[in-house]
Amino acid sequence: MSRSYYIAGNWKMHKTRAEAAELAKALVSQLKDGKHKYLVAPAFTSLETVAAVVKGTNIRLGAQNMAAEEQGAHTGEVSVLQLKDLGVQTVILGHSERRHVYKEDDELVNKKVKLALRHGLEVILCVGETLEERDAGKAESVCETQTVKGLLGVAAGDLARVVIAYEPVWAIGTGKTATPEDADAIHAYIRKVVGKLYGEDAARKIIIQYGGSVKPDNAAQLMAKENIDGALVGGAALKADSFVPIAKFA
Ligand code: 13P
Repeated sequence: MSRSYYIAGNWKMHKTRAEAAELAKALVSQLKDGKHKYLVAPAFTSLETVAAVVKGTNIRLGAQNMAAEEQGAHTGEVSVLQLKDLGVQTVILGHSERRHVYKEDDELVNKKVKLALRHGLEVILCVGETLEERDAGKAESVCETQTVKGLLGVAAGDLARVVIAYEPVWAIGTGKTATPEDADAIHAYIRKVVGKLYGEDAARKIIIQYGGSVKPDNAAQLMAKENIDGALVGGAALKADSFVPIAKFA
């Protein structure tokens, strides 16, 4: 496979600065000979601390969200300019918790995607169906809509800075993982959607991560699939003992 693997840790709303620094230091030392692309996404409050630890290493710094506007009267929001100022290189957008708990819709996610790309950031665009949607046979169409609407107006030249993360909502934090076969089928479908929008070459190159209860004991089987190019890890990303084996899956 010509695509490289990309393993990302989404720390969600966990860790104080001291805890974040400790984890980041452990990852820096244990992943320095790692062969894949790596990212950690701490909470906003730990970004500056973790930035100092991962700077100049093979671990990228990511944020978990950002505002759809560059700046202004948006109480409680964090701007792309502020993230860049801290050394953030990548931003996770459209995470299912943002979509389902905080009611972000495709239009808002798309606005954020375009703003992040305009400012030179890499974007991890999350898509994925709920259990109800899967049971109704709508997994593909939901992922297609979220992909198409999320990428609306994104220029072909910017697509190299877009990663898609397929995170079935029913598999997040539940211990239920999509089977490698089921996940691969959706990844293949998303790749086809990207192909329809941007052509075969772009579809071949785009990195599609899987997220949802990725653990040390299922990572290798997932990564072995043709269309699975990495992982977006939640719970297991909170400890070096579980993230490192995923990041170094054999
Ligand atoms: P879990 O790995 O805890 O299921 O979380 C996945 C996720 O939401 C990563 O963004």
